[in-house]
Amino acid sequence: MSVLVLGGAGYIGSHMVRRLLDQGQDVVVVDNLVKGHRGALAPEAKFYEVDIRDKEALSAVFEKENIESVVHFAAFSIVPESVAEPLMYFDNNTAGMVTLLEVMKEHDVKKIVFSSTAATYGNPVNIPIKETDPQNPINPYGESKLMMEKMMAWADSAYGIKWVALRYFNVAGALEDGSIGEDHGPETHLVPIILQAAAGQRDYIEMFGDDYNTPDGFNVRDYVHVVDLADAHILALDYLGQGKDSAQFNLGSATGFSVKEMVEAAREATGVNIEAKVGPRRAGDPDILVADSTKAREVLGWQPKYDNVQDIIKTAWNWKELHPNGYDDRK
Ligand SMILES: NC(=O)c1ccc[n+]([C@@H]2O[C@H](COP(=O)([O-])OP(=O)(O)OC[C@H]3O[C@@H](n4cnc5c(N)ncnc54)[C@H](O)[C@@H]3O)[C@@H](O)[C@H]2O)c1
Repeated sequence: MSVLVLGGAGYIGSHMVRRLLDQGQDVVVVDNLVKGHRGALAPEAKFYEVDIRDKEALSAVFEKENIESVVHFAAFSIVPESVAEPLMYFDNNTAGMVTLLEVMKEHDVKKIVFSSTAATYGNPVNIPIKETDPQNPINPYGESKLMMEKMMAWADSAYGIKWVALRYFNVAGALEDGSIGEDHGPETHLVPIILQAAAGQRDYIEMFGDDYNTPDGFNVRDYVHVVDLADAHILALDYLGQGKDSAQFNLGSATGFSVKEMVEAAREATGVNIEAKVGPRRAGDPDILVADSTKAREVLGWQPKYDNVQDIIKTAWNWKELHPNGYDDRK
């Protein structure tokens, strides 16, 4: 029996594939390579270049392979792009989930672990954020993912498809050997952008706003290492394998770091005196986003190994030094 990883050529999906292979599991990857990279694919995993919205092609994969469970990373995830092009997000993310659940139902596959996001909460009412806090997304990306969570819940009551939604906060870092890492196009994530400045690929890093309601005035986010995140998905697969109920879990480190603290941590991790400038605030950036991930720790037994942002950044820097231009396969 195989685990099907949708979006397995992307940043987080490619790390998940490596962790599953490390455990001796059979892995099948589906990715349309719209954002992913051939260079991120593990040769030991079977790969299908398929768009999840293509029902016929996706069904053919389920027919050929003996799939036991699905891990679903395949989505668009750039907030400002979702504001400019909401229908593109509802099509790829939300409509993609309709096709996927239909195909799972038709092939009697009853387990799915899903990449959800802190963006489903919108502006938090409590810090740290708990799974039971209200979900009021403030952009189409967060809305598309919340709709996907709700669709899985209805598919559970109607067809018994069991799901785990993992709501990630900020994901960073790379596999320790530096063989795979983060390479988004365009890059919107803080750590790779700071490391572009460290590598001399940009002159400085712009820190958006220094008047937030936080100890140093810069906004605060919660960072999890990508391998710790992948391990949470493996625990979620085990959880569903034990016949347990559908559930949602926050995945964060519970410790927030400000943008300025991240730049300082990156200076220490890289030994480069990265230049940083303060720019204007960006619209819709909350002061603080930090997860309460007690539930994942208690129920799934999740124990992140990286509890220090400098160590997380060191792994990303190792990837960056080995692959200064990422995967070099831009179309
Ligand atoms: N990176 C983060 O910090 C973060 C935070 C919260 C949630 N997430 C979620 O985690 C997931 C993975 O994020 P990532 O950073 O690895 O993104 P990514 O863009 O690197 O990976 C997504 C992969 O899915 C593929 N894909 C997209 N649409 C597809 C489709 N219709 N059919 C087939 N393949 C398709 C892309 O080609 C890409 O390889 C996303 O769903 C994202 O919403 C990421």
